[in-house]
Amino acid sequence: MKTVVGAVIALSAALVAATNGPIDGPKPKDIGIALFRGWQPMDVFGPIEALWGLGLSQPINIYLIDHDGDTSEIRPLTPFPTNSNTSATVLVDYTFANAPPLDVLIVPGGGGTRNQANVQPVIDYVAAVYPSLQYLISVCTGASILARAGVLDGKRATTNKRAWTFVTQFGQRIRWQPKARYVRDRNIWTTSGISAGVDGVLGWIEYVWGSAVATEVTNVMEWNRVGANDDKFGKLYGLW
Ligand SMILES: *[C@@H]1O[C@H](CO)[C@@H](O)[C@H](O)[C@H]1NC(C)=O
Repeated sequence: MKTVVGAVIALSAALVAATNGPIDGPKPKDIGIALFRGWQPMDVFGPIEALWGLGLSQPINIYLIDHDGDTSEIRPLTPFPTNSNTSATVLVDYTFANAPPLDVLIVPGGGGTRNQANVQPVIDYVAAVYPSLQYLISVCTGASILARAGVLDGKRATTNKRAWTFVTQFGQRIRWQPKARYVRDRNIWTTSGISAGVDGVLGWIEYVWGSAVATEVTNVMEWNRVGANDDKFGKLYGLW
């Protein structure tokens, strides 16, 4: 009996070690966030919030990057029918041309992804920089930028369930997952709509730094964390 219990404990420990990191090798440090006009606020600041917590225990840098390195606005290209003013403007650190070498790139979504010309500089940047990244992460409809850059071809991915038809028109042989909070395929993490970016980044933190660090970050931000396969919005929008 003791042997069986011991074996079960050893097996459980092996499973936990396999899924809960941390992984071996140099840890990512320099994290860029690629911006464009009309990004979704939480797609950017949800992950920044989690990374802020990560920065309390790990040495990291976050850089905001866009086409001109000046400012970037949430304000949509087409005003809301209500004419509501719900924007905020951030100061950007670098252009796509002069950004420092990155270990990680995060690509948010938002209404601005619907305008091809608006996001073409981001698409080009993703295609150019992906080979030198340790990790690439998209939030929400940011997956459409990854798909248009060709980096999701042949991979599993997910995106915002409400914007499914728009995003899944892009790319080749992408195995889009309708029942997922977030998906990892090799070194690319794609997440579902808006708030899912936080769960995806927390899942990524767990993968890289281990569950103790991820739990600490989660508790610092008082976040009710959701796992990779825990999705109800695909069903809500009739995808499964
Ligand atoms: C938003 O700002 C614009 C420009 O100042 C203004 O014309 C519009 O009425 C504002 N919207 C609302 C809902 O007040």
